Amino acid sequence: MIYGHFAISLIAEKKVFMDNSQKRKRVLITGCSSGFGLLTAVAAAKTGYDCIATMRNPAKADYLRQALKQAGAEATIDQLDVTDPEAIKAIAAKYAPIDILINNAGILIMGSALDITAEEMQRIFETNFFGAVRLARAVAPQMIERRSGLIINVASLAGLTGHLFNATYSSAKHALIGFSESIRLELKPFNVKVVSVEPGFHKTEIIRANANLTDNFYDKESPMFEYNRGFLRLMLDEVVPRAAEADAVSGKIIEIMQAKKPKAHYVIGKDARVVALARWLGLASLVDNIIYKKFITAVRRENRRAQAKKEARKKP
Ligand SMILES: NC(=O)c1ccc[n+]([C@@H]2O[C@H](COP(=O)([O-])OP(=O)(O)OC[C@H]3O[C@@H](n4cnc5c(N)ncnc54)[C@H](OP(=O)(O)O)[C@@H]3O)[C@@H](O)[C@H]2O)c1
Repeated sequence: MIYGHFAISLIAEKKVFMDNSQKRKRVLITGCSSGFGLLTAVAAAKTGYDCIATMRNPAKADYLRQALKQAGAEATIDQLDVTDPEAIKAIAAKYAPIDILINNAGILIMGSALDITAEEMQRIFETNFFGAVRLARAVAPQMIERRSGLIINVASLAGLTGHLFNATYSSAKHALIGFSESIRLELKPFNVKVVSVEPGFHKTEIIRANANLTDNFYDKESPMFEYNRGFLRLMLDEVVPRAAEADAVSGKIIEIMQAKKPKAHYVIGKDARVVALARWLGLASLVDNIIYKKFITAVRRENRRAQAKKEARKKP
């Protein structure tokens, strides 16, 4: 994993202070072992925030340490599994007062809605939805008390539109966006701001080392078997190679942290903006048709390939 190429140089180096004191603003970020979390932690520390970078597995902290060192920045690294409610309460108390919470931790388990197991669905919701909800509920009272705060929820383009072979992930991200929009209004009287960030595909570990397939993905009895192969081919050939650079997202999150009046939604990446615009223009079915055609073409190609392999094996 190489994280040498940061957008940090583009970010003005200024110390970030609370409005009426000389104390630096404290930001707590989840899921900082890689991807957006790691990049945002480094960029926030470099920008002058008092950064608490959490991760579920501290054995992975060396990537972050290395990136911080390279950037000449410092952050506090602590352990937090967002599926552990007691640990969430403890961390919210340990680092109070938290000025900014970034709910970034997330997992992806790909598979059709028929194949994915109930346990896998549960795991996605526990991490991508309930983890963020629990953190927001743990930190919001401190913010309410101080009449100041910002909660940034990292949702996804998959939270704005359906996502084939990712129904559970998409559902959890839709739920997260619904939660963000709702508490944005509830917390407004207390000057606590809530933002939802909705990136399209970006090059992070979630589409590489951390990309999981359901345990049933290769189940030959599944009616989805042939379609699973095609979907995977589509991801590998068309989606992953075209994913955008991850520092676009961390850079935008830093901008949001510094905005006086942050918006409710930030759609990030060309793919996400095109899909969001098409939906806004009432052209959702056009986008669906394009994606479906690509998917079916990939399925047919993959099936031909599998058939050719089978026949080659039969030959003496
Ligand atoms: N990259 C994209 O294309 C994309 C697009 C839209 C939205 N997103 C969202 O962006 C967020 C960050 O993902 P990423 O793209 O940066 O992928 P990533 O590189 O895989 O990072 C995900 C991070 O979440 C952590 N995590 C997973 N389960 C956790 C748990 N139970 N407790 C605490 N941390 C946990 C991972 O830790 P481990 O190292 O321990 O697994 C990792 O640090 C996710 O919410 C994802 O859904 C990503």
